[in-house]
Amino acid sequence: SWTMLNIVEDSIEAVRRQVGDGRAICALSGGVDSAVAAAIVQRAIGDRLTCVFVDHGLLRKGEAEQVERDFVAATGVKLRVVDAADRFLKALEGVSDPEEKRKIIGREFIRVFEDEQRAIMADGPVDFLVQGTLYPDVVESGGGTGTANIKSHHNVGGLPEDLQFTLVEPLRALFKDEVRRAGEELGLPAAMVWRQPFPGPGLAIRIVGEVTGERLDLLREADAIAREELSRAGLDRQIWQCPVVLLADVRSVGVQGDGRTYGHPVVLRPVTSEDAMTADWARVPYDVLSRISTRITNEVREVNRVVLDVTSKPPGTIEWE
Ligand code: XMP
Repeated sequence: SWTMLNIVEDSIEAVRRQVGDGRAICALSGGVDSAVAAAIVQRAIGDRLTCVFVDHGLLRKGEAEQVERDFVAATGVKLRVVDAADRFLKALEGVSDPEEKRKIIGREFIRVFEDEQRAIMADGPVDFLVQGTLYPDVVESGGGTGTANIKSHHNVGGLPEDLQFTLVEPLRALFKDEVRRAGEELGLPAAMVWRQPFPGPGLAIRIVGEVTGERLDLLREADAIAREELSRAGLDRQIWQCPVVLLADVRSVGVQGDGRTYGHPVVLRPVTSEDAMTADWARVPYDVLSRISTRITNEVREVNRVVLDVTSKPPGTIEWE
């Protein structure tokens, strides 16, 4: 739209003024906020922006490719990809506690990002760090400008406190729906622009139990099926998000063909919500649930049961961990 075009143009101009002929770095998470922020800064300063995508191996099916291929094709952003999946898996070995998982993932992320930062700065100084801070985050954190970001303790994109950088926050005046419209205006891939909320620690907090490569593969397949069927049913915009959770330490008896199975259950957690503070379980039509269940149990080896979470928040949280 015309006004959105103006907002985007204005913020490109503001970034150009702020950064001058300096350089900036930006961590991409796969989410819409960091993507739109990066796209705006790229329009403003071109190759003087370097994006870093730390692939922690905990994203859903197709999401890493969305960043590495589709986002780059759409924006021309200069991107460094770090395949850190093995490193994160190793660090998560033997860990079942949800907060411990979050801590480890946050810590590893910062270490990997700092290595990249050093490599980028070998080509010359970098003074600016791009963050996808939105208006509601600004309000939540007391409205101060500066270096800290309320989200940093919550998101994997959270960066070290000892910021030697000046922040560039082109989305500071925008709400989420405006960010999505800006993303469309900038020609970003629809799958990124309309991506539902997804936690920074990713699938690691949707495996109840230890995170292993095999379990991640199972969950990725089950999740892809659920997302595909919900989209096909046209429910993407009605549903706030739908975590698919693998109960990795639970097994139950099933029967498939002429044999007994002893597999894992997955939980579907579709919710409706305004802001994630409260939520209700989504009344997904039975035929859609049925298709998801049939496909998951047919197509995902090791999963022999699909169950539906019918708890509101409170008392349940949206995620299981
Ligand atoms: P809960 O489970 O607390 O989730 O009802 C509320 C919203 O926050 C997301 N979430 C996270 N996001 N890092 C994130 O970036 C996290 O550790 C995290 N935990 C929960 C969740 O997906 C929901 O949208």
